[in-house]
Amino acid sequence: MIFNQKGQIKESLFEYPSDNFKKFKESALKCNRCTLRKTCTQVVMGEGSLKHKIMVIGEGPGSTEDKKGRPFVGRAGNLLNKILQSVNIKREEIYITNVVKCRPPDNRNPNQNEMDACSPILKTEIKYINPKVIVPLGSIALKYFLGDRKKITEDRGKWFNIGELYFLPTFHPAYLLRNKRMKKPVYKDFIKIKKTINRINQLYDI
Ligand code: URA
Repeated sequence: MIFNQKGQIKESLFEYPSDNFKKFKESALKCNRCTLRKTCTQVVMGEGSLKHKIMVIGEGPGSTEDKKGRPFVGRAGNLLNKILQSVNIKREEIYITNVVKCRPPDNRNPNQNEMDACSPILKTEIKYINPKVIVPLGSIALKYFLGDRKKITEDRGKWFNIGELYFLPTFHPAYLLRNKRMKKPVYKDFIKIKKTINRINQLYDI
């Protein structure tokens, strides 16, 4: 768990600069705190809006992301873009990132040690963005934020909260590439997300 009961980030032993995003990013790109860095091409940092208070979080870079150094730019990313476009969400009005920033070999799931080693980067991204809503994409991200008992098949499309921070888990776009029937429920989830973005924008005058 990276949040306390109020939905605030728990401090890490390792801290990044929290007053200069550029410096934080430069420093994070040099991370080699776990063995994933030995097999990946580069660290893939999140990207998008630091002001819109909404984060969409996948599990870890795939092979295209590993080559290009950007999150969600492969097949799953293209599908994510299409879903976003279909509900009028621009990539620039959300912040997109992953639980781990280095590609796991053969796209296996990241393990707990790797997720723990990477957590100072994700926590720092969260500190900068101060999100009101986090959208975990898929089971790994869902369990990472809300605990091992959560099941993506049962819990997608439901709102959860830790204190003032809200979560709306949905299926990972890579899963949708294999299970096309599930696109419709995910589209409905993103309609909820679009409405929430509008509400947040009004509330915070964004
Ligand atoms: N899958 C993810 O979880 N993240 C990416 O960036 C790409 C594919």
